[in-house]
Amino acid sequence: MPNIDKMKNFINLKDISAKDLRKIITDAKKRKKARKKLYNLEVDKGEPLRGKLLIQMFEKSSLRTRLSFYLAMKQLGGSTLTLRSDELHLSKGAESIEDTAKILSNFGNAFMFRTDSDEKLSEFKKYLSIPIINGLSPSSHATQILSDIFTIEEIKKKPISKINISWIGDSNNVLNSLIAAAIKFSFRLNIGCPKKYEPSKDILSYIKNNKTKISIYNNAKKAATGADVIFSDKVISMNDKVNKIRKLNYFKKFRINTKLMTFAKKDCIFLHCLPRGEEVDDKVFLSKQSKVWQQALNRVHVQKSILLYCFGKLR
Ligand code: CP
Ligand code: NVA
Repeated sequence: MPNIDKMKNFINLKDISAKDLRKIITDAKKRKKARKKLYNLEVDKGEPLRGKLLIQMFEKSSLRTRLSFYLAMKQLGGSTLTLRSDELHLSKGAESIEDTAKILSNFGNAFMFRTDSDEKLSEFKKYLSIPIINGLSPSSHATQILSDIFTIEEIKKKPISKINISWIGDSNNVLNSLIAAAIKFSFRLNIGCPKKYEPSKDILSYIKNNKTKISIYNNAKKAATGADVIFSDKVISMNDKVNKIRKLNYFKKFRINTKLMTFAKKDCIFLHCLPRGEEVDDKVFLSKQSKVWQQALNRVHVQKSILLYCFGKLR
């Protein structure tokens, strides 16, 4: 029988202790190393999630998150079922979140949810008796950023606290999680974005209320100076209800090109959670400095340890 006391949710990095986040990364490092010679569908020794079912549901498009949770569960000895939100009674207003959550809790062992509403995520959390994982919401993309911290340490072979990260791009869900990570892991984060697209008031006060090494520049070159990592994301996120042409215009001077990369350190790497848009030139995106494919695949490894954390089975 499940031990409900030990179960944990994974929703926002800011709500998880730095110690637990570090434990997840350490576990992922060990697990990745231990299965170097195994194929994608081969199961880790011990099958820690044998018999467990992760139900995942997407209200927005996804390629990487969907695939990486599938492989993560397989490698841990469990299984995944993916629901299309538009096929559920819930999406048509014909069933409540409360009843849906009760059914999910009886049929599955964990729920991974990509949603267009943070409120829905909180409602599900209220009624589920199984762990819930945020697979991207308007305010956060926590699984992505924890995995990216793993990737940076893997490539740079240094603790993240010794790395300078520059985010050049929109103030969106991915940046919010990166800011939370900068606070939890205490690394330097320079944000480069137009004045109009700086982080929200709530995020600015979260930054202010914590001892941080976070700076905001309305100038891409200043933000990129001295960076070990340059990070970006689409200017127009999914369901971003803006005048797209006008917003893209604001970001013209924040496009990542080879010239901008010269302001960073010589061995600076480029990261992007994908999918990409116009924020980065092909020359950078397809260069040796770009580590985006390794970044994407590492999500499998880190999400395995996130799942184990949620099930109270982290070593
Ligand atoms: N980076 C990421 O979450 O990709 P998907 O939207 O394809 O899942
Ligand atoms: N900020 C992007 C991330 C996609 C993985 C979005 O929300 O669409």
